[in-house]
Amino acid sequence: MIPNELSLPLPPAPPVGIGVAMTGCGSSVPEVCVDNDTLSQVVDTSDEWIASRTGIRQRRLASPEVSLTTIATTAAQNAIEMAGVTPMDIDLIILATSSADDLFGSAGRIQAELGARRAVAFDMTAACSGFVFGMVTAAQFIRTGTYQTVLVIGADVLSRWVDWSDRGTCVLFGDGAGAVVLQANESDRLLGFELCSDGRQHQSLNLAYKPEPKALVDGVTIAHGTYHPVTMNGQEIYRFAVQRVPEVIEKVLYRSGLTADQVDWLLLHQANQRILDAVAQRLHIPLHKVISNLAHYGNTSAASIPLALDEAVRQGKIQPGATIATAGFGAGLTWGAAIFQWGR
Ligand code: ACO
Repeated sequence: MIPNELSLPLPPAPPVGIGVAMTGCGSSVPEVCVDNDTLSQVVDTSDEWIASRTGIRQRRLASPEVSLTTIATTAAQNAIEMAGVTPMDIDLIILATSSADDLFGSAGRIQAELGARRAVAFDMTAACSGFVFGMVTAAQFIRTGTYQTVLVIGADVLSRWVDWSDRGTCVLFGDGAGAVVLQANESDRLLGFELCSDGRQHQSLNLAYKPEPKALVDGVTIAHGTYHPVTMNGQEIYRFAVQRVPEVIEKVLYRSGLTADQVDWLLLHQANQRILDAVAQRLHIPLHKVISNLAHYGNTSAASIPLALDEAVRQGKIQPGATIATAGFGAGLTWGAAIFQWGR
């Protein structure tokens, strides 16, 4: 007999005031490393041009046998281990990516590889802002008391989707994955956030589906095309980033009752060293507080923030309790910032 919905016991009311803490991080990159000199065999460029305009010296590229799922799963395993939980403790997996192995989503496969059988898993796309958007989404599920332990993964293999004959874009990107575990916690370590979108500027950066008409039967034509490689108006994206990112961080600092000098680390999406420097300068945050690893990895899109976080934590740079201002920005256009303290 199907029970009458109204006769079922009500779910427990969500506990009020649950805090969120980031308790583990992990990362993984493909083994193949390509430096700028090597790239100059592919397009007309040089180490001098790339390094001086972007700060990038090398990037990791995924070979055909390396999938997004592989690197994302390894990053997640490392984060789970650091958090001291097991895959069966995970309630929710959010995979932020723009380059899933499967357009229907790759989070499910990662859930299976991890053996996180209790977890619900889904993909989320917000380009290079994906990790920050995913982290904030995860925090909402924790704060409402719905879930206790959430895995957020940022992973991308944009080498599959750049135009390797376009020197203006192909030199910028690399492949990688990073992950964090967020847990319900007595103290709230997520001090504030803000997420933004402006679709009017979507043409400045995209990886768009290009339809090709295909006649099915008389009077019925459908689109049967494919995705075209990344196109970008570099100067517009630069202007957008150096204006919007300091703005949104300042807003979140204000809401969190903090000032820029109370930030221990500025952890931005690793797009370009000139963007990192300009944002830090506008916020009056000294460069020694800016986390930067893009010289080694290039722009790894949704992976860049958790990848840089993981390196800094494992190097002992970021210590428990450190106040971190993070911001993602990219296609959409999307941008967003969060201020959090590392650890419980
Ligand atoms: N090697 C050598 N020359 C190059 C290369 C290259 N890889 N790429 C472009 N050039 C040439 C151009 O053809 C142009 O030559 P020309 O003057 O003869 O026409 C010249 O360099 C200047 O090109 P610009 O595009 O004006 O170069 P700019 O100084 O703007 O630098 C860059 C380009 C680095 C992309 C810059 O616009 C930028 O930093 N943009 C920010 C966007 C960004 O970082 N995007 C990353 C992805 S998006 C994201 O993550 C948000």
